Amino acid sequence: MTRLLLVNGPNLNLLGVREPETYGTATLDDVVELVRVTASRWGLEVEAVQSNHEGVLIDAIHAARLTCAGIVINPGALTHTSVALRDALTGVALPVAEVHMSNVHRREPFRHHSYVSDIAEIVVVGAGVQGYAFAVERLAGLVTGPATP
Ligand code: DQA
Repeated sequence: MTRLLLVNGPNLNLLGVREPETYGTATLDDVVELVRVTASRWGLEVEAVQSNHEGVLIDAIHAARLTCAGIVINPGALTHTSVALRDALTGVALPVAEVHMSNVHRREPFRHHSYVSDIAEIVVVGAGVQGYAFAVERLAGLVTGPATP
């Protein structure tokens, strides 16, 4: 069965506890479940990884090269700092959907730049946890057939 890799970066294990006024009250488990349910409607499986360590995320992205058809990623703060994560994503050449729950463009200036956005097929910001479902819908369309308009 075709698979998507779901990657969540540093501090996203604290979802539901961390700054709920910014990120809401859903937990990481809720996010993973939402992504699985959304993907399953397209006949897709999901492999999920969260880590606070950049190298673990990079290894998971490399491993996805032969096992997954696309990547949904919320790189957390690594979005704004990590050339290595960007290089891993370009290196595996899988379609990428970047998700940020908060509207990063309405926040501090250092969150306005992303090392991922210009290599992503899809970017969803400011839609809360639901943004993961939007990203999966669009990415699933891309990897399973013609995308819906
Ligand atoms: C985030 C936005 C990032 O700037 C921040 O470092 C996060 C979460 C988001 O989902 O809104 O950890 O990626």
